[in-house]
Amino acid sequence: MKLAETGRFLKNFGFSRNTLVVTDKNAGRLYAGTVLKSLRRAGFNPSAVTLEPGEKHKNISSVAKIYGSAVKAGLDRKSAIIALGGGVVGDLAGFAAATFMRGVPFVQLPTTLLAMVDSSVGGKTGFDLKEGKNLAGAFCQPKAVLIDLSTLKTLPARHVANGMAEVIKYGVIMDAEFFDYLEKKAGEGWDLEKIVFRSLELKASVVEKDEFEEKGLREILNFGHTFGHACETLSGYGPVLHGEAVAAGMAAAAGLSVKLGRMTAGESARLKNLLKKAGLPAEFKKKFKPSEILKVMLRDKKTRNGRLRLVLPSRIGKAEVVSGVPEKIIREVL
Ligand SMILES: NC(=O)c1ccc[n+]([C@@H]2O[C@H](COP(=O)([O-])OP(=O)(O)OC[C@H]3O[C@@H](n4cnc5c(N)ncnc54)[C@H](O)[C@@H]3O)[C@@H](O)[C@H]2O)c1
Repeated sequence: MKLAETGRFLKNFGFSRNTLVVTDKNAGRLYAGTVLKSLRRAGFNPSAVTLEPGEKHKNISSVAKIYGSAVKAGLDRKSAIIALGGGVVGDLAGFAAATFMRGVPFVQLPTTLLAMVDSSVGGKTGFDLKEGKNLAGAFCQPKAVLIDLSTLKTLPARHVANGMAEVIKYGVIMDAEFFDYLEKKAGEGWDLEKIVFRSLELKASVVEKDEFEEKGLREILNFGHTFGHACETLSGYGPVLHGEAVAAGMAAAAGLSVKLGRMTAGESARLKNLLKKAGLPAEFKKKFKPSEILKVMLRDKKTRNGRLRLVLPSRIGKAEVVSGVPEKIIREVL
C-alpha cells in the first residue's frame, strides 16, 4: 500500500478527526508531507511531532515531547497516534499511545526494513533506560499497520543490513527453509517484498499464540537479544545499531549452543557466514569485560529469580529457552 493512501485507509476506523503523526527528522523530511496531505484529504485534522533520530533519543524525554504535542493537537480518547518511521519512532509513539489518556488508538507506518519485518507488529512498545535497553514499556497492539515498501528505496544500506538481522533470526529459530532461501539469495540482492511478507507471517504466527509473552513461546523471538541488548546498553545506545548487536548476539548464542553440545559447529558456522554475507557482524567488535556484559544481561526481561534464561538454537530452524547455563561457560563464550 502507498503512504499517499493512509487517510483513505484510516477513514473507516472510527478515529476522531484530530490525530498526531509522530516521526523523526529523517523519515519526516521524506514522508511526513505525503502522510499529512493524505490525512487532510480524508477529513482528518493532523498535527505532527518530529523527534531527533536514533536510539540515543529512545528515552523518556522523547515520550514527554509526544505527550506535549498530543495535548496541543487536542487529541481525545478516540484520536489515533500514528508512528511514521523506524523502530525507534514506533516504540516511542506506541508507548505514548498506550499511556496518553490511559490509552488511545495506535497506527504504524513503518519505513525501515527492521520496523517492517519486526517492530511494527506484535505490540511491544517502550523506551530505554540508561541501565538497560527497553526496560520501560507496555503492550499496545496497533489498530493498523500500513507498509509502503517503496520507502525502502531511501533507506541507507547499513539500515537494510540492520533489518536483515531480524529476518535471519526468523530463519534460525523457526523456518529452516526460509534460512536456506536467504543463504541462496545472499549477495545476489534481496527480494524485499518476499522477505517482509514471510517475516510477518512468521512473527504473527508466534504472537497470536502468546501475545503477552507468558507461555514461553514468544520468548524465542528474543534470540540474540539478551547478548545484543547488553552490547547496546554498554555502548551507550547508537554506535552499534540494534540489528548489528542482535547479529553478534545470535552468533554468541549459537557459539554457546555449540559449547553446550546442543548444536553442531557446522550449523553455527552457517549462521555466521550468512550474517557476514548480509553485511552484519558475527562477533562483538568492541570488547567489554565478560563480567560487565553478564551484569547487564541479568537485567534482561526473561530473567527469573536472578536466573538468566537464554534463547539457544538446537539447529537451523529450531530454538528454545534454556535456563541454568553456568555463568562460567557464558563468560568463556563472551
Ligand atoms: N517493538 C518491537 O517489537 C521491536 C522489535 C525489534 C526492534 N525494536 C526496536 O526498534 C529499534 C530499531 O529500529 P530501526 O532499526 O528502524 O531504527 P530507527 O528507527 O532508528 O531508524 C533507523 C534510521 O533510519 C532513518 N529512517 C527511517 N526510515 C527511513 C527511510 N525510509 N529512508 C531513510 N532513512 C530512514 C531513521 O531516521 C533512523 O536514522 C530499536 O530501538 C529496537 O529496540 C522493537
